[in-house]
Amino acid sequence: MTVRIGIVGVGSVGTSVAVSVLHSGIANEVLLHDIRTDRTVGEALDLEQGSSFYPTATVRAVAFDNLLDTDAVVLSAGRNGRPGETRLDLLKDNAVVAADLGRRLRGYRGVVVVVSNPVDILTRIVQEASALPKTRVIGTGTMLDTARLRQMLGAMLQLDPRVIHASVVGEHGDSQVVLWNSAHVGGRRLREWDAWDPADEPHIAARVRGAAGEIISRKGVTNHAIGLVTAALLRWLVRGERRILTVSRVQDGAFGLNDVALSLPCIVGANGAEQVIEPDTSPEELEAIRHSAEVLAAAHESVAPPT
Ligand SMILES: NC(=O)c1ccc[n+]([C@@H]2O[C@H](COP(=O)([O-])OP(=O)(O)OC[C@H]3O[C@@H](n4cnc5c(N)ncnc54)[C@H](O)[C@@H]3O)[C@@H](O)[C@H]2O)c1
Repeated sequence: MTVRIGIVGVGSVGTSVAVSVLHSGIANEVLLHDIRTDRTVGEALDLEQGSSFYPTATVRAVAFDNLLDTDAVVLSAGRNGRPGETRLDLLKDNAVVAADLGRRLRGYRGVVVVVSNPVDILTRIVQEASALPKTRVIGTGTMLDTARLRQMLGAMLQLDPRVIHASVVGEHGDSQVVLWNSAHVGGRRLREWDAWDPADEPHIAARVRGAAGEIISRKGVTNHAIGLVTAALLRWLVRGERRILTVSRVQDGAFGLNDVALSLPCIVGANGAEQVIEPDTSPEELEAIRHSAEVLAAAHESVAPPT
């Protein structure tokens, strides 16, 4: 079976996604599309010339319509955040691009993975504009924030990040929520871990929340971690592994939330973000998730819904 992955928007993020996808060996064909056509042909040639060093795959720059015959398409088109700007400030410009791409994806048979920011709002805009099932339009959401949290906790506890079961949910942005209450390590609640001090939690949550801003203030973009996150999501999707991931999708009743895209733990299988899980939360965490949904709903309202 030939697996084709499309990437729309081949800038810093799109190229990092392409490199990670090629190394992961899940795709036989990686198809790149960007309005900067010549540059994209250059990126495809550059990536393909490294083909001795990743599992067999071809890389091509294509017209948008060629992407309609792929298994998954990544949307990383649009501009990046500027220093000092929140993700919501990006909304107006990137909403126009997302709505246009969504409309062009009507009838698409694969899974759409939205990466562009603000990712939750754009996930909803793409889902609405494309009229695809809510399960098949996934935002990377707080998968990146969860990875950042696990990396930081792993470094603190001197453990591999993969054995830290702690998640960030809600908005991929300032109103995100760390689920400290249900975090556990080795079958034990994190809060009962030797030497764990709950007084450190606000500081760690702030570091996770500010991680992108710190990187952007130093190098102008974030691209490597999101490239790895997106390639992992694609690998688990295409293989139908049914992992539980904190991805964003338009909600359909979990915690009473509807018509807002945000991240909650979700079973991700071959058909996309198939089943949302309501995690155990403290009353404060549930309140914070509801607040995150309100922030996102208000931001969505603030842009005229593109038709
Ligand atoms: N979700 C996350 O965790 C996460 C992490 C990092 C970056 N991002 C977001 O990813 C997006 C891309 O970031 P970047 O650093 O690669 O930006 P970039 O400017 O380097 O690349 C964006 C690319 O999109 C292209 N583009 C714009 N409009 C297009 C259209 N209509 N069709 C096709 N291509 C189009 C541009 O030509 C450009 O090549 C930004 O919105 C950024 O905020 C998200």
